[in-house]
Amino acid sequence: MPERYIFPHRHLLGIEPLAPEDILAILDQAAAFEEVCERPEIKIVPALRKRLIVNLFFENSTRTRNSFEIAEKRLSAEIINFDADASSLSKGETLIDTAKNLEAMHPDLVVMRHCAPGAHVLLARHMSASIVNAGDGAHEHPTQALLDAYTLRKRFGSFDGLRVAIVGDIRHSRVVRSNLWLLTKLGARVTLVGPPTLMPEGLTATWPSIRISHSLDEVLSEQDAVMMLRCQFERGTGAFIPGQGEYVRFYQLNAERLKRCRPDVAILHPGPINRGVEITSEVADSPNSLILDQVTNGVPVRMAVMYLLCNARNEKA
Ligand code: CP
Repeated sequence: MPERYIFPHRHLLGIEPLAPEDILAILDQAAAFEEVCERPEIKIVPALRKRLIVNLFFENSTRTRNSFEIAEKRLSAEIINFDADASSLSKGETLIDTAKNLEAMHPDLVVMRHCAPGAHVLLARHMSASIVNAGDGAHEHPTQALLDAYTLRKRFGSFDGLRVAIVGDIRHSRVVRSNLWLLTKLGARVTLVGPPTLMPEGLTATWPSIRISHSLDEVLSEQDAVMMLRCQFERGTGAFIPGQGEYVRFYQLNAERLKRCRPDVAILHPGPINRGVEITSEVADSPNSLILDQVTNGVPVRMAVMYLLCNARNEKA
């Protein structure tokens, strides 16, 4: 990394455009902010004082939305939470007009979750604020992949040769796309596991180093980490599988399968969990599970993203 590294991106629209050193810079900055989050009393720094951040969530969220808001508060930013249901979108105002009107109020940074892949690119074209993608359709969820990576680095120290299986509803997952970019850029050995119908075509054309398997039982014992994905029934997963019982039989991570993993295997899940579908409670709540660590780590990781983006704007101004 150069002696004085400056984060070179104005937006975080996805992991795809990031270089490995950008990802590592975010993880290193997050480690510094983790110390702030773990202080017994004053968990606040003035890093983004007088910066205005707008949170625009057009889709439901528990983890991401609250994590961003806590991260913004820890950085002393001023926050506007845009309520899509109470906005003029319900009167037919377009996303572009919404963006232009928000722009007129001069925010420094906008965090958006939207059901349309690429909606963030549109926003970035019409706003001078930095845009952070908090999930766009089945495209990317970059801060989820960054917090997953932060969690894995804390546990294993490095990504080089780390064996990570990502299991389940690959077709509908934005988390998997961001993780594929991130983990392959950092040298992890990724295996995707799921039924053929939930495995879109062309994955190995985009990520040639990955392996694809349709048998969880065949690959489990080799993995350092297993990331289970939620079956996204609200996005139509049910139409791609014969039935939930069949899916559970072949792809659920349960206590029996956990016994066949390495004793120190790390179990991850981005949440929300369908308990009893892709993972059982015994596994989700087991000592191998890092699922709540992922949530904890989301705050310093999002602090790092917003801090680096605002700093990059400062340097360029
Ligand atoms: N992991 C994740 O994006 O969770 P939420 O949908 O609750 O934000």
